[in-house]
Amino acid sequence: MSRSQVIALDKKYIWRPYTDMEAYIAEGDPLVIDRAEGIFIYDANGGRYLDACSAWWTASLGHQHPRLVRALVEQAARLSHVAFAGVAHEQASSLAEALVKVAPEGLTRVFFTDNGSTSIEVAIKMAIQMWRQLGHPEKHRFVTLDGAFHGETIGATSLGGVDVFRKPFGDVVFDCIVVPSPADGGYERAFSALAKVLREDADAIAGVFIEPLVQGAAGMRTYAPEYLRELRSMCTRHDVLLIADEVFTGYGRTGTMWACDQAGIAPDLMCLGKTFASILPMGATLASDRVFSAFGGGRDRALLYGHTFCGNPLGARVALEVLKIIDEERIVSRAAALAPVMAKGILAIAATKGVLATRSLGMIGAVDLREDGGISGDERESYLKTAGWKVAGEARKRGVYLRPLGSTVYLCPPLVISEPELLWLLGEFGAAIDAAMA
Ligand SMILES: Cc1ncc(COP(=O)(O)O)c(C=O)c1O
Repeated sequence: MSRSQVIALDKKYIWRPYTDMEAYIAEGDPLVIDRAEGIFIYDANGGRYLDACSAWWTASLGHQHPRLVRALVEQAARLSHVAFAGVAHEQASSLAEALVKVAPEGLTRVFFTDNGSTSIEVAIKMAIQMWRQLGHPEKHRFVTLDGAFHGETIGATSLGGVDVFRKPFGDVVFDCIVVPSPADGGYERAFSALAKVLREDADAIAGVFIEPLVQGAAGMRTYAPEYLRELRSMCTRHDVLLIADEVFTGYGRTGTMWACDQAGIAPDLMCLGKTFASILPMGATLASDRVFSAFGGGRDRALLYGHTFCGNPLGARVALEVLKIIDEERIVSRAAALAPVMAKGILAIAATKGVLATRSLGMIGAVDLREDGGISGDERESYLKTAGWKVAGEARKRGVYLRPLGSTVYLCPPLVISEPELLWLLGEFGAAIDAAMA
């Protein structure tokens, strides 16, 4: 099929995510991607682009990692799917064991899910049902941070603190207690608001959801590990679950296997997705003994949750290979070693015209842009702004594929990128910003 045929059918039949469809159909010019390898995606005309968003943060090991492809093909030939009901299989069993071995201490049970959002959904239900079964049905509310993003389903949307994503569903989502984010810079304010909520309302609170160290979708808003340490101790003190959403941050992105590691903390529940199975939609929610044991004592106390594709053998086999590659190719220490290169390169962009702020964490580098007219966007509204799209257009001309977050543009390349490649990427990123903001 020719490139133009692909686009014609796409525009005629497909409803694209997060897309102004009228504008797209009238003037959009999508990349038509034909193949991918390592850090690059290739379009139908042979154009090559460095995938600076790692396929929406999934391709940490690069595209088409031969071991992942082989694992998938071999597994597909043997057992592709079976109901995870009264059935066990080697792929799920060995993955669960491997996950528990690398997980923060105390997370000893693995519940398999379909993606990041459903990892969040199961955590919501685990927390609510746990407290009910421990005799505290009144503990069913959640604390979430301003600027949080936890996914697309209604439960996950309820926890969201990015207004633009939440607004259309505002009358339907459940009500959460929203506290200020430490990423806004006011640590004291964030600590004291959290402390007040937990002191006064812990009897009604099931858990606190947190994106550890960086609020990704809100614009790569970073904060220091000390907030996590404080949060952990407050949750323990007030007997509230700490639920870490490591869907984005897990698997080395921040320079450690888990972002929680940088604070030396372990959550009560941990949600995984994205790099989890990298090339397939699968995730997991890991639970502590305490959470798990609340579901003992009879059939009517079982966790009332389960997706059709729970424990899918293809996803499980690939997810196990992801863990093996991370270990054998020392992916996390490579990411940690490249983090200063990312930090230096991003800092060098700070003085570029039109740049309001820069920051980096591990293998994430982000730049906030000034919008036309010199008005800096309120970050929570920035998703709808346009400067980032201009930079993305300029980057594409230079062989870099970016996905902006409104006024924020960021780099989140595969962790297998080499130092010369990262330096090249940073140079082109800076040049794209320069050209777009001139
Ligand atoms: C922190 C975080 N949690 C959850 C999700 C939802 O994951 P998924 O899109 O796989 O449902 C995302 C997606 O970007 C995310 O960044």
